Amino acid sequence: MATTLAFDVYGTLIDTHGVIDALKPHVGHRASDFSRAWRDKQLEYSFRRGLMQHYEPFAVCTSQALDLTCSQFGLHMNPENRKELLDAYRTLPAFKDAREGLARTREAGFRLFAFSNGSAEAVEALLAQAGLRDFFLDVVSVDEVKSFKPNPGVYAHFLRRAGATGSEAWLISGNPFDVIGALSAGMRAAWVRRSPEALFDPWGIEPTLTVASLSDLAARLNS
Ligand code: LAC
Repeated sequence: MATTLAFDVYGTLIDTHGVIDALKPHVGHRASDFSRAWRDKQLEYSFRRGLMQHYEPFAVCTSQALDLTCSQFGLHMNPENRKELLDAYRTLPAFKDAREGLARTREAGFRLFAFSNGSAEAVEALLAQAGLRDFFLDVVSVDEVKSFKPNPGVYAHFLRRAGATGSEAWLISGNPFDVIGALSAGMRAAWVRRSPEALFDPWGIEPTLTVASLSDLAARLNS
């Protein structure tokens, strides 16, 4: 069977910092800092909920992280503006290299799946509005097993849903925690390092492959 590719979504295909423009009217020049703090807290909440086995959908991690970040930045957000920001999270832009990278890997004969902490409904809608949904055979969400990355159980769930074994499958992600989680669960993993400033955790567990752009992925996987 052709090799299976599990594409992480937020931070790999979709740019979570696409919310910066929507944040500017509320926090001005601090919008980038706010966006990073919001994303970091969202992921922290997913890690804590996974470890506590106190699951709530990723959208709850996102909304509760927004509320905490507003408090951190001394921002009093009215319900209408809060809804606007959360709606903006559902229509985030794709990275510029996503479409070409997906087209090249599909043309190269790989089996493409989206694999995310996001709910299937949220990811389906997000990929559709970004014009990327049709590249994928399916969308696999951790919501189906009520935990979060990097729980090894969510990677095992992906492999079951994709009908693949770890040695036949790659995780493709811009998130080092996700890359390390997949490797630790027996998959191969490519780290998408779009910025030279991006750091990888010093755990002694290294990506199988590192690419600077999804456009390079197909050629590198086949080299
Ligand atoms: C995802 C986030 C965590 O799973 O990157 O899409």
